[in-house]
Amino acid sequence: MQQRTLGRDGLSVSAIGFGAPTFSGDAPPGGLDNAIAVIHRAIALGITLIDTADHGDGNNEVVLGEALAGRREDVVLCSKFGNLRGQSWAKGRTVDGSPEYARKALEASLARLRTDYLDLYYLHRVDPAIPIEDSIGGMVRLKEEGKIRHIGLCEAGPETIRRANAVHPIAAVESEYSLMTRDYEADTLPAIRALGIGFVAYYALGRGFFSGAITAPPEDNRRSVPRFSSENLPRNLEKLQALKEMAASKGCTPGQIALAWLMHQGDFIVPIPGTNSIPHLEENAGAAEVTLSAGELDALEALFPRDGGLAGDRFDRDRSGELNI
Ligand SMILES: NC(=O)c1ccc[n+]([C@@H]2O[C@H](COP(=O)([O-])OP(=O)(O)OC[C@H]3O[C@@H](n4cnc5c(N)ncnc54)[C@H](OP(=O)(O)O)[C@@H]3O)[C@@H](O)[C@H]2O)c1
Repeated sequence: MQQRTLGRDGLSVSAIGFGAPTFSGDAPPGGLDNAIAVIHRAIALGITLIDTADHGDGNNEVVLGEALAGRREDVVLCSKFGNLRGQSWAKGRTVDGSPEYARKALEASLARLRTDYLDLYYLHRVDPAIPIEDSIGGMVRLKEEGKIRHIGLCEAGPETIRRANAVHPIAAVESEYSLMTRDYEADTLPAIRALGIGFVAYYALGRGFFSGAITAPPEDNRRSVPRFSSENLPRNLEKLQALKEMAASKGCTPGQIALAWLMHQGDFIVPIPGTNSIPHLEENAGAAEVTLSAGELDALEALFPRDGGLAGDRFDRDRSGELNI
């Protein structure tokens, strides 16, 4: 697998990473043995960037901890703190970026992941209640203690990123980015590129949309995504049809084109598709070999333009009208 570098401190990672799929309950869909087999296959394919978070009370980290026993040094292990959505104890609070919480959350993540350090630790959501300098300052102390090696941010805007980077070099910003969500191209991606920060793209497959696997409104945790509603999905699938035709003519899959498109947007960008399936994982890893011509990039631009390719928002909205990111 080709390598890419995240940030100016030279964190080297596979050009395509693995986003450990989130799940609720004790076992991932397909069961624990399957989830572990997928992670082992990812490592065998040369995928080193393994991404998770402490969401769902950390059940995903427990799975990774088991899968990575004896293989910890083979991966660049990333987790996150501060997004309290989905934490059963949080009682309606949605974010905590305080240094005290960072320390507490990291200790819990390290225990679940069965390791004594993370290669990359992200602030999962910027806390509007405290200055970003304080959040990063807390993470710098964890780095000085050797508990984390690099610092990242998720879903942050350019000014926040600049302020954070002034406290300590940020290795990576992780946000949603794909042919269906291009909002960050206007000002965030240029700022990230200029600062020499890496960009990790989550929902790189549009939560499965670009793979062609979604043909009806999903019944799972994607059921509230407006793009997949019974009203919007049929219109969006019409656009996908053109992508499928391009893929067929190239001898690859539409999902591979979606991942290859991301990688063509800059060598500081690394997609982290998630899957519970070894065949899907292998297909996704194969996207690293797919090249797109200038004509194909133009055709994709026309199909999924920067200012709104698909019908419907990327997330639903809360009662105040804010996106539930
Ligand atoms: N930083 C943040 O704030 C943030 C927020 C959300 C998510 N994330 C991270 O992003 C990562 C990926 O998210 P995600 O897995 O939900 O979204 P995704 O990568 O866009 O899509 C995954 C979905 O696509 C399907 N899929 C994947 N490859 C496929 C293939 N080749 N063919 C057919 N279907 C395929 C998967 O189903 P199968 O299992 O059947 O393959 C799954 O339903 C996760 O690690 C997650 O933690 C980060």
